[in-house]
Amino acid sequence: MKVILFSGLVCPAIAGLLRGTAQPDRVAFRDALTTNYVSMRRSAPASNALSRGIPSTLAAWRAGSGNVTTNLQNVHDIYYIIDLKVGNQTIPVSVDTGSSDTWMVQQPYECASMFWSSPNSKPNCGLGDGFKGNLSGGIIDGSVFSRSYTDGTFVRGYFGYEDVTIGGLTAKHQQLAIVNYTYWYGDGLTSGLLGLAYPLMTSLNGESPQSQKAYDPVFTTMWKSKLVLPLFSIALSRDEEENKKNGTAVAPPKTGSTNETSFLALGGLPPVDYDDGSWARTPIQSMQLLKEWGLDNTTERGLYVIVADSYVYGRTNSTSSVPLADQLTKNTTQFPVMVDAGSTLTILPTDLVQKLYKSFDPPAQYLSGTGLYYAPCNATIPKFGVQIGDSTFYIAPEDLLKQAAHDETGYWCRVGVTDSDSGPHVLGVTFLTNVVAVFDIGATEMRFAARRTY
Ligand SMILES: *[C@@H]1O[C@H](CO)[C@@H](O)[C@H](O)[C@H]1NC(C)=O
Ligand SMILES: *[C@@H]1O[C@H](CO)[C@@H](O)[C@H](O)[C@H]1NC(C)=O
Ligand SMILES: *[C@@H]1O[C@H](CO)[C@@H](O)[C@H](O)[C@H]1NC(C)=O
Ligand SMILES: *[C@@H]1O[C@H](CO)[C@@H](O)[C@H](O)[C@H]1NC(C)=O
Ligand SMILES: *[C@@H]1O[C@H](CO)[C@@H](O)[C@H](O)[C@H]1NC(C)=O
Ligand SMILES: *[C@@H]1O[C@H](CO)[C@@H](O)[C@H](O)[C@H]1NC(C)=O
Ligand SMILES: *[C@@H]1O[C@H](CO)[C@@H](O)[C@H](O)[C@H]1NC(C)=O
Ligand SMILES: *[C@@H]1O[C@H](CO)[C@@H](O)[C@H](O)[C@H]1NC(C)=O
Ligand SMILES: *[C@@H]1O[C@H](CO)[C@@H](O)[C@H](O)[C@H]1NC(C)=O
Ligand SMILES: *[C@@H]1O[C@H](CO)[C@@H](O)[C@H](O)[C@H]1NC(C)=O
Repeated sequence: MKVILFSGLVCPAIAGLLRGTAQPDRVAFRDALTTNYVSMRRSAPASNALSRGIPSTLAAWRAGSGNVTTNLQNVHDIYYIIDLKVGNQTIPVSVDTGSSDTWMVQQPYECASMFWSSPNSKPNCGLGDGFKGNLSGGIIDGSVFSRSYTDGTFVRGYFGYEDVTIGGLTAKHQQLAIVNYTYWYGDGLTSGLLGLAYPLMTSLNGESPQSQKAYDPVFTTMWKSKLVLPLFSIALSRDEEENKKNGTAVAPPKTGSTNETSFLALGGLPPVDYDDGSWARTPIQSMQLLKEWGLDNTTERGLYVIVADSYVYGRTNSTSSVPLADQLTKNTTQFPVMVDAGSTLTILPTDLVQKLYKSFDPPAQYLSGTGLYYAPCNATIPKFGVQIGDSTFYIAPEDLLKQAAHDETGYWCRVGVTDSDSGPHVLGVTFLTNVVAVFDIGATEMRFAARRTY
């Protein structure tokens, strides 16, 4: 089920293209703080993460979009939730930078029965209360919204228009999808999804390329109507309580409090503490780099695809006089990777990740049946960093070895970076909890700064 050898996303043609476009520089500017931010709640699974959790629906859809199959079960178990105001209703949705549609279930919706369900049991898709009544902007007659995911889940419905408000900004007469038929395994905390990627992705339904007309997603509508600068930023916090609690949604602190939490900020930076000297920038690349999508001839942006300059890893010895950076191994192979707040894990090429696994002491091991790598919970955790421009963003030990994601015995804990030879490769939540990430659509670049320890 696993280990198809790395088949070379970085073919010579792309490598040349990368050299031509990469322009990593230290940044001599500072994004402004914005007041248009919202706190995000964090959904975490029960601590026994080896039992089936919430499936990796989003990641699986992406992976499956070009007939690529990867084993990503249990990957999508940590995600971030905001309350979206849709018309005059409040709908909790998960925040996703790896897709562009905003959808929610209609109240009531039909949850599909699967063949294995007993005829007497009522299927439960685990979605929260959905949108009630009619969309004020009407529905688009004959429209079909359909997304299928490789783990067997799907959403189906139709498109219509409604005002959508986030952080005090309203996208008026926004096209969104209402789902009335689905198979889903949710945890009841969300009723839909907010997609923050580019318009291009709304035209891809995962079945045949560009099968639908693209439309402007929520944030595109907001900046095009000049409500806000064309950029947003995300700061995800790992929950310090995670190691103690069995995980349910963590309530956000009251807005404006200085407690570190998770934020989606529109038009500027969220109120979190970061290292001002660590800003780095890198261009957002076109979708042709993600070979598995088959968009070879496009120069359009679709997802937040970047190319990091290098990856560093290794065991370090803090009492050694050798500087930390020199104790680490640097791999400068470049490949496209998508910045995805909808993916719990960071997913990188096998040959690179295997080196990281070997750097754990004792080394991490593949636990068959889980599809993922685990290390003893008390293992010595190596360093692992992603270099962008002159800055290296290290993944904190608590993200590299998730103490809350352990087996029944409590001996094995999950490693926060997993491997895949087929794309897309992903900088997911385990990376994003270490940075402030600015998605600058106007400048077509991503910027990152290291979070201060929290
Ligand atoms: C995907 O799979 C289908 C059915 O197996 C096949 O017809 C199609 O050509 C494949 N597409 C690509 C891009 O490989
Ligand atoms: C919400 O809006 C609908 C029409 O758009 C209206 O019928 C309904 O009364 C409103 N509900 C509230 C609580 O304001
Ligand atoms: C929704 O629209 C339909 C048809 O346009 C109408 O029959 C129905 O009463 C409306 N429902 C509400 C709650 O307004
Ligand atoms: C969902 O909505 C579409 C479009 O209005 C309709 O054709 C379909 O019958 C509905 N399905 C369910 C299960 O309500
Ligand atoms: C929480 O975890 C503890 C020990 O890990 C267990 O005894 C308890 O039953 C769990 N509680 C719930 C609600 O799952
Ligand atoms: C959040 O901040 C308030 C005061 O601003 C403090 O009382 C509270 O303990 C903080 N909560 C956490 C979880 O740090
Ligand atoms: C890209 O363009 C080339 C040359 O025009 C064509 O042969 C190829 O089929 C195109 N590829 C796709 C995926 O459209
Ligand atoms: C760490 O470095 C110190 C000083 O060079 C050395 O004495 C010690 O053996 C090293 N420890 C390990 C585990 O390599
Ligand atoms: C560097 O990483 C690439 C994958 O990005 C891998 O194929 C290659 O083997 C690695 N090189 C070394 C020396 O580990
Ligand atoms: C880790 O835990 C195992 C058993 O749970 C124990 O045998 C081992 O000595 C521990 N290792 C360290 C470095 O504490």
